[in-house]
Amino acid sequence: MDGNGRWAAQRAKQRWAGHAAGVEALKLVVEAAPLHGIDTLTVFAFSADNWRRPKAEISQLMGFFASFIGSETAQLIECGVRLSVIGRRDRLGPGIVAAIARAEAATAGGTTLHLRIAIDYSARAAILQAANMPAADVSRELTIEEFSLRLCGDLTTSDVDLIIRTSGEQRLSDFLLWEVAYAELHFTERLWPDFGPQDLALALHDYATRDRRFGAIPEQVSAVECAEPKSLSAHPR
Ligand code: FPP
Repeated sequence: MDGNGRWAAQRAKQRWAGHAAGVEALKLVVEAAPLHGIDTLTVFAFSADNWRRPKAEISQLMGFFASFIGSETAQLIECGVRLSVIGRRDRLGPGIVAAIARAEAATAGGTTLHLRIAIDYSARAAILQAANMPAADVSRELTIEEFSLRLCGDLTTSDVDLIIRTSGEQRLSDFLLWEVAYAELHFTERLWPDFGPQDLALALHDYATRDRRFGAIPEQVSAVECAEPKSLSAHPR
């Protein structure tokens, strides 16, 4: 969800105003995603590197996350959205950690969309943590599926179909590095607060034109593998 700061600067506003507009953009995208058959949406809200930002901006961002997670829970339940937060929790404040736990429990039954918010997230750190987990059986090597399960908790989130990067940036920035092995990449100049359902539709149209062969030749690829993306990701730097 990159470009909040530039959006604010273009309007001679402070950065928090860009993040506030980013929250509104997120709500619209969450509403639109299931209409396109997307069942998992992961948004990169705060990277482990974002702790380098000024303290005041970090605390504004944490305030936005806490208030979204707290005040949107009822709406998420009504829309059948299951909320999960990925990333480290030990560096977050106790208030937001408790709000996350409450929202995750309250929305656990949602089946329309799995909304995953990455906060204090680093893909490399997550991969390292999974690699360092003690193995039940040390006499044999892990399979890809077993490692995915360690890393992601469940296999429904282990393969991302489409990455959308806003604001003209063209990097992966330590986001879901294992999960994006076969992801299609969509880059747009649109700043996140301006990114709306029409941009989502455009990204999905772009995705639909891609020839996904997974290393095979076209005749071998089933219609199922070429279908609409199920797992979508949007992330900041
Ligand atoms: C990157 O843009 C954006 C972030 C680090 C924060 C993203 C947060 C939101 C969209 C707020 C809402 C999120 C939730 C989960 C409620 P930037 O600030 O780096 O923008 P810039 O590159 O233009 O400076």
